[in-house]
Amino acid sequence: ITVYVPRDASALSLGAEAVAQAIEAEAAVRKLDVHIVRNGSRGLYWLEPMVEVQTANGRVAYGPVHAGDVSALFDADFLHGGADVLALGPTEDIPWLKSQQRLTFARVGVVDPRSLDDYRAHGGYRGLEAALQMESIAIVQAVTDAGLRGRGGAAFPAGIKWKTCLDARADQKYIVCNADEGDSGTFADRMVMEGDPFVLIEGMTIAGLAVGATQGYIYLRIEYPHAQRALEAAIEAAQAGGYLGANICGSGKRFQLEVRMAAGAYICGEETSLLESLEGKRGQVRFKPPLPAIEGLFGKPTVINNVITLASVPIILERGAAFYRDYGSGRSRGTLPLQLAGNVKRPGLVERAFGLSLHELIEDYGGGTASGRPVRAVQVGGPLGAYIPVSRLDTPIDYEAFAAIGGMVGHGGVVVFDDTVDMAAQARFAMEFCAIESCGKCTPCRIGSTRGVEVIDRILAGDAAERERNEVLLRDLCQTMLAGSLCALGGMAPFPVLSAIDHFHEDFERAPAFDP
Ligand code: NAI
Ligand code: SF4
Repeated sequence: ITVYVPRDASALSLGAEAVAQAIEAEAAVRKLDVHIVRNGSRGLYWLEPMVEVQTANGRVAYGPVHAGDVSALFDADFLHGGADVLALGPTEDIPWLKSQQRLTFARVGVVDPRSLDDYRAHGGYRGLEAALQMESIAIVQAVTDAGLRGRGGAAFPAGIKWKTCLDARADQKYIVCNADEGDSGTFADRMVMEGDPFVLIEGMTIAGLAVGATQGYIYLRIEYPHAQRALEAAIEAAQAGGYLGANICGSGKRFQLEVRMAAGAYICGEETSLLESLEGKRGQVRFKPPLPAIEGLFGKPTVINNVITLASVPIILERGAAFYRDYGSGRSRGTLPLQLAGNVKRPGLVERAFGLSLHELIEDYGGGTASGRPVRAVQVGGPLGAYIPVSRLDTPIDYEAFAAIGGMVGHGGVVVFDDTVDMAAQARFAMEFCAIESCGKCTPCRIGSTRGVEVIDRILAGDAAERERNEVLLRDLCQTMLAGSLCALGGMAPFPVLSAIDHFHEDFERAPAFDP
């Protein structure tokens, strides 16, 4: 009997290791033949550790399971799907999962991330097999036609980036995966790398064939040791299986892949400082142009894409551009793995086609706030994303619709706050975060963020006249940072600040503290 116990970092943090050990020990005592597969998480984090059993009628889920529950589960015959203890029913029928449109996440939580055979049995490597039959330009065209845009946050069309790199002439080109997932409240990259690492490897291999690159690097944040182990094991298996190396699937084509651990700086998620860091230098932003697609790693043409962008490529090649493009709304095509976090009852991973509203996401999937208090603000797109007030929660999740309200979808992180949030403190935090993480290369960000913290402090400490004076100053400073910063860190830190002051002005109007 096969039992699935996630090895996903979140499940582990909630006790999944002890659960796996308890199941193994209990099965030994009861002399039952149990095979434990350590899968990724399905992304229903309020139910982790979520244990699944393979029955004749499909997989059946139980959760949240703690080590102390295991003996009761065996008593109730959970191995045959019979227990009513912690029972969640057939996994695929859990409404939270059933209503999703999992394309990129189709196998996450389903397969054994250490097994190449399991990956193939679930449709893996069909995209690469199709790509091997195609000319480079046709692969690039398929990605362009699918409408895939950069899922790291900037939403730049992946096909155009690939075409720029394909057209660049060089003796060596590179594919770099940006796995330095740094936005607050985001975990989609991690879940893919831990739960279905082969899909990323396959996507990078296809990207290599598309642009003529033979070497790939996964720049992985140091805080993700479980993802590192999963990726390294998968790279080894792909190599042994002939899917990586000098002769991919007997085609004579070559692609090699390595994981490189980041040193742990937010700014190294910015593509040019990432390249500096990969080259062994201090992670500081480079001027653009030249674009990395033309002069990137070691001065060579380089495609840098986020994990989710690359992991979305295999299904496009497997099912065709039209299949992928069919999902979505407006110019935002395909699906987006949304990461629902913060003050919600049911946090987790929701992959849906663009067009879902924030309200639907927070209420239907999230179940409202965990505190039971009203939602007051939602930050979308990481620490540099705008705070969205309740009056705008009907906004569809779509790159252009968000830009129209002064927000950004970013990497799809959604952090919910209830009415106890202090928005002035949040605004101050954005400036403070920027000051701490700034690489120091340009003045608006290096100096501006520190001055920004001071100005917000003066607004909060001053009387009405002082407040007004400093608010003008803060808006002016934000404009300078927006227009004059070299990269998105200084260029976007004003978004949370301005949205807080525009939509939640009352939080900046406190009476000054009494100073005897
Ligand atoms: P950008 O707009 O400068 O560039 C987007 C991408 O398109 C880059 O890779 C750039 O090299 C490429 N590009 C632009 N024109 C091109 C052309 N003609 N040919 C080929 N390639 C071209 O944005 P940037 O600074 O790379 O990213 C900013 C975004 O990063 C923000 O919107 C933010 O949402 C996101 N972000 C994500 C984080 C995460 O943890 N995932 C953390 C922090 C920020
Ligand atoms: Fe460095 Fe900040 Fe300027 Fe970006 S905006 S280059 S992080 S100083």
